[in-house]
Order: sequence, then C-alpha cells, then structure tokens
Amino acid sequence: MHHIAIFASGTGSNARKIIEYFQDSPVVQVALVVSNKKDAGVLDIAKAHGIPVYVIGRQSFYETEDLLAVLQQHRVEFIALAGFLWLIPAYLVRAYPRRMVNIHPALLPKYGGKGMYGMHVHEAVRAADEPETGITIHYVNEHYDEGDIVFQARCPVAPHDTPADIARNVLTLEHLYYPQIIAQIL
Ligand code: GAR
Repeated sequence: MHHIAIFASGTGSNARKIIEYFQDSPVVQVALVVSNKKDAGVLDIAKAHGIPVYVIGRQSFYETEDLLAVLQQHRVEFIALAGFLWLIPAYLVRAYPRRMVNIHPALLPKYGGKGMYGMHVHEAVRAADEPETGITIHYVNEHYDEGDIVFQARCPVAPHDTPADIARNVLTLEHLYYPQIIAQIL
C-alpha cells in the first residue's frame, strides 16, 4: 500500500477528488492531510473521511524539520500539493525527490511563480487575451512552479469568458486529471 499525503491551504476541492478517487483503492491510501490554515475547508473533508490531519505553523515549517517526523510516522512516501500556497523548503524537497507533485492552474511556464495562484492566474490569462489555458502537474523543487512537468491539459478561452468562467473550466480539468496522474506516477 502506498501512503500519500495531501498538502492544501484552502477549499480543498482537489483534495476531495483525490480522497474520493483512492477511497477504496487497494494500492493507494491517503494517510495524512497537512494544512497551514487551521480553518481550511480541506480539514473538514479529511475528518469526514477519517483521515488524520496535521496543521503546521510557519515557524515549524521553515525553521524546523518536525514535519518530516510526522510524515514518517504516517509512512508517507508521496506528497500531492493541492492548492498549498507556501514555498516548499529544501529539507522537504530532499526528502521527497520526484515524490512530490503540485498542480498549477495554467500552462506553465506561463503564469507561474510567486503571487501567481488562484484567481490571480485566471485574471492574468484574461488580461493577456490568451486563446487557451489549462493545468500543469509538475514535480516540486525549491522554486515556485519550476519542477519538471509531468502532465498538461488544455482548454480554450472564449473572448467572452470572465476570469470566473476560466477558473471553473480549469478546475474541471484539475478534478478530472489530478487523481489519475497521481495514480499513474505511483
Ligand atoms: C487550484 O485551482 C490549484 O490549481 C490552485 O489553487 C486551487 C485550489 O483549489 N493552486 C495554485 O494556484 C498554486 N499556485 P482547491 O482548494 O479547491 O483544490
């Protein structure tokens, strides 16, 4: 059984899809959900599925390696970031080499980097009149959105699409592909 952890900061709709996808899997178990926000929606989703949660503070995350012990305790061998907005520190990248992926709501290398998250991305795509956008799933290194790309999927942007329309279309792609790609990697 592969034990995976999901790191999320917000609503957790991707985390929910991943949890549901692997719910009855004989090979993959979501063993832990980690959040940097104690009121994140994703924590309720995890608890409803009986998955242990761990809330981490900034100091612990960046100035200690305590999280490694927690991950080891839950025998986590793979990490999926799903709307986790803090930069991953070097000790964590080293502990999970090519065993940690992120999903980004655009076609990297476009519209990535610090500050490019959530609606900021879709507003930038709209402002640039891009004919298409999409999702990128990539391995995580020490820089925002720069690790090797594993998978991309595209969707058109219509001239009348608002940033909210774009966000909805992109999220649909995320929900469809992220669990499948995690399964493939594992
Ligand atoms: C997702 O669209 C994800 O791609 C994005 O945050 C959203 C989280 O939604 N991540 C980033 O922008 C990272 N730079 P969710 O909490 O409903 O899964």
